[in-house]
Amino acid sequence: MRIEVAATEEQLAEDCGDELVAMLETTPATLGLAGGSTPVAAYRKLAERDLDWAHIVCWLPDERWVPPADEASNTRMARTELVDLTGASLLAPDTTGESPADSAAAYQAALEPALAVGPSVVLLGVGADGHTASLFAGTAALDIAEPAYVPNWVDVLDAWRLTATVPLLRGADHIVFLAAGSGKAAVLREILVDEVPHPARVVAEGARDVTWLLDAEAAALL
Ligand code: 6PG
Repeated sequence: MRIEVAATEEQLAEDCGDELVAMLETTPATLGLAGGSTPVAAYRKLAERDLDWAHIVCWLPDERWVPPADEASNTRMARTELVDLTGASLLAPDTTGESPADSAAAYQAALEPALAVGPSVVLLGVGADGHTASLFAGTAALDIAEPAYVPNWVDVLDAWRLTATVPLLRGADHIVFLAAGSGKAAVLREILVDEVPHPARVVAEGARDVTWLLDAEAAALL
């Protein structure tokens, strides 16, 4: 596992763009786009870079069970901050139906051709509780032993999520974890120093190539 620390969140976004450009040099490729707020600055930087976007398929390692127009939608954020600004295509789950399980199954089928050889690059965030994608401690999806895309009831959120399973994420050629801010310092120490088996560490431990991109605040306790 490689850990890179940027002095500021702005530099972190630049560094993340550089890393992803290097990892996406060979196309066709797939790019798993982390949700949440941290990646937004990095997506904006990446959108400015000259990549073979026409041969890059973007997808979502996880999605909230909200309509695509919802402020909380990872699909909406990915489209707004990256996909619509480039020639990339986006495979997104349909969250307008009645059933998270049906939606996850349909999305898994849609992803199959693109991810059949395993994801190329997956960008993931880390929650202050150690979750990644929508793999939260104590939730059912965390224990699924095959690569899949599944519904996941998250008690702490009192909400459904859709998420890639640990084996699907571990199958990537490259995983990049992106974390910024003092709020992530404690959990990153637990993951990277104390080896606490938070979901983000569980994903990283079995993966082929893992890079942690942190800003100085997030790395303060390492
Ligand atoms: C989501 C994410 C999730 C996120 C972390 C960090 O849908 O929320 O995919 O795993 O990456 O919660 O979120 P922040 O970047 O907002 O801290």
